[in-house]
Amino acid sequence: MIGLSLLLTLGSILIGWAFEVITPKAKSIFREEYISVVVKLNPAQTSKAVIRTETESITLKLEKDKEIYCKTVKIIPGKNRIGVEITGKDGKVQLKVIPVFMASQVFPAGNTPPKDFKVSGFHKGKSEALCAECHKSKSNTAVGAENCKQCHGNILNRKFPHPPSVAGCTLCHTGGERSKYAWKEPISDTCFMCHGDKKNIWYSKKYMHGPPSTGRCYICHNPHSEDVRFFLKKQTNDLCTTCHSEKREEKHPLVGFVFGDAHPVSGKPDPARPGFELACTGCHNPHASNYRFFFQNDYSGEAILCLRCHKK
Ligand code: HEC
Ligand code: HEC
Ligand code: HEC
Ligand code: HEC
Ligand code: HEC
Ligand code: HEC
Ligand code: HEC
Ligand code: HEC
Repeated sequence: MIGLSLLLTLGSILIGWAFEVITPKAKSIFREEYISVVVKLNPAQTSKAVIRTETESITLKLEKDKEIYCKTVKIIPGKNRIGVEITGKDGKVQLKVIPVFMASQVFPAGNTPPKDFKVSGFHKGKSEALCAECHKSKSNTAVGAENCKQCHGNILNRKFPHPPSVAGCTLCHTGGERSKYAWKEPISDTCFMCHGDKKNIWYSKKYMHGPPSTGRCYICHNPHSEDVRFFLKKQTNDLCTTCHSEKREEKHPLVGFVFGDAHPVSGKPDPARPGFELACTGCHNPHASNYRFFFQNDYSGEAILCLRCHKK
């Protein structure tokens, strides 16, 4: 992150007045890429306030008499440092750096949180009360179903929003021990409430692919919104080769194929699916199949798989 190491040195010049970073808490683990930063400061003594993340720098617009500043920031998979840098009217600079972690199975940096980090449990205990003054719901408690978007609105703002998340949040976030708004595992039970047709198809197949068989559909899909079609956390081939990394380099798929070159896996239109580019899923089903290697069609002799795209 640009400039943060320099800032860390500046941070040692402490001055008399204080400010507070109400959220995030140091060493929290999050799963969405948007989180809240809430800073409480003394506007009479502050000339500048900046929030720095691994990718951006946000200068807060200070207002007389306003002590609480709320911002949604973007984090990246793996380790992040959120820096809050306050410059006093006397020109002195104070910095607080809050380490947080974004967990993800499909970004290697996000696979293993440091041991002393803990999953977020914001909606538990007293933290909501600090927000209640301003983020009131109809029932007058800090948070209610109708104001989730005040604080989490950005998770719907990627290119493709998933309809149930636009409609509301508590359908899936029914609550649990970890948080008033935890979701139930396996989440697939909830997904299949609406995508039950898929359940019937997939569970009737001979083989199910490891990741979806765990019921943790969010390994690959973002339940809220995504920039990629099907709400995938990455473009298909990128997603598959995260776990099947050898397929990034290896000549594939037709090992020993008489033509010297490997079969293309991207960069051409998929003849079987108008509007789609050729991808791993042209030949492999990501969820389940009756054929080995989760082929979309049989490849046990008659090369029906090939005939999906190559007419004889
Ligand atoms: C003193 C009033 C006040 C308190 C207390 C407060 N907020 Fe806010 N918050 C606001 C206002 C007003 C907005 C609307 C955006 C703005 O003007 O900054 C807002 C907006 C937000 C946003 C959206 C910011 C963005 O970038 O879109 C988030 C997230 C947020 N608040 C989180 C919190 C959390 C979490 C707490 C409690 C820890 C909290 N707020 C406490 C007044 C408050
Ligand atoms: C006042 C702001 C605010 C409102 C309103 C709010 N949240 Fe949160 N929520 C947070 C903060 C702050 C966190 C910590 C992670 C972050 O910064 O995004 C969080 C975390 C979560 C988490 C992760 C588990 C946890 O407890 O840490 C879930 C799930 C969640 N919120 C769901 C919801 C839902 C559903 C609603 C509406 C019913 C809602 N939130 C309303 C501020 C808010
Ligand atoms: C279709 C079910 C579903 C709906 C609807 C839904 N969520 Fe989620 N949400 C999940 C699942 C599953 C996860 C875990 C995602 C992951 O690991 O990638 C999650 C994760 C989150 C997190 C991050 C939790 C953490 O531990 O850091 C927040 C915050 C959150 N949801 C808020 C919301 C809000 C706000 C809404 C409504 C605007 C909403 N969700 C709608 C299923 C849903
Ligand atoms: C309340 C109903 C509901 C729930 C629960 C639900 N979805 Fe959806 N989902 C929809 C609707 C509606 C669409 C858009 C219509 C469509 O394309 O099928 C959709 C679309 C999708 C798509 C894109 C389908 C396509 O063909 O473009 C995927 C992928 C998806 N959902 C995954 C999930 C996952 C994963 C879960 C569980 C975390 C889930 N859904 C939970 C209603 C739901
Ligand atoms: C999160 C990790 C992960 C992702 C992402 C992933 N896979 Fe897998 N895949 C596995 C695991 C684990 C197995 C072994 C268990 C099994 O056979 O299901 C596997 C098995 C396979 C196999 C069978 C291999 C064999 O030797 O029998 C194929 C083919 C495959 N995956 C294709 C894909 C494709 C195509 C994608 C992208 C749509 C993909 N995988 C995404 C983890 C992953
Ligand atoms: C290994 C990653 C992975 C996991 C885990 C996964 N999916 Fe998918 N899913 C995909 C990919 C890739 C596509 C796009 C397929 C394509 O391009 O045809 C997809 C497409 C879909 C679609 C729309 C297209 C279709 O096949 O009907 C739905 C609905 C869906 N997934 C639901 C789920 C549900 C529910 C779960 C959990 C049981 C789940 N997925 C788990 C990778 C995954
Ligand atoms: C044109 C069809 C096609 C495409 C596209 C394709 N594959 Fe395959 N894949 C095959 C065939 C055929 C085999 C069986 C090869 C064999 O018999 O040795 C295979 C085998 C596999 C296997 C299991 C055997 C092994 O070699 O480890 C994995 C894992 C796999 N593919 C992943 C992928 C991934 C990831 C992609 C996308 C980058 C992809 N495939 C794209 C046809 C395809
Ligand atoms: C999902 C669609 C799809 C499947 C399934 C598929 N291919 Fe292809 N194949 C393509 C595309 C697209 C090209 C590139 C054509 C071009 O360059 O315009 C290609 C190219 C080829 C070529 C190079 C010559 C040519 O026609 O351009 C051969 C040979 C080939 N495929 C054989 C196979 C075999 C054997 C199988 C079965 C194991 C297979 N393909 C399965 C889509 C597919």
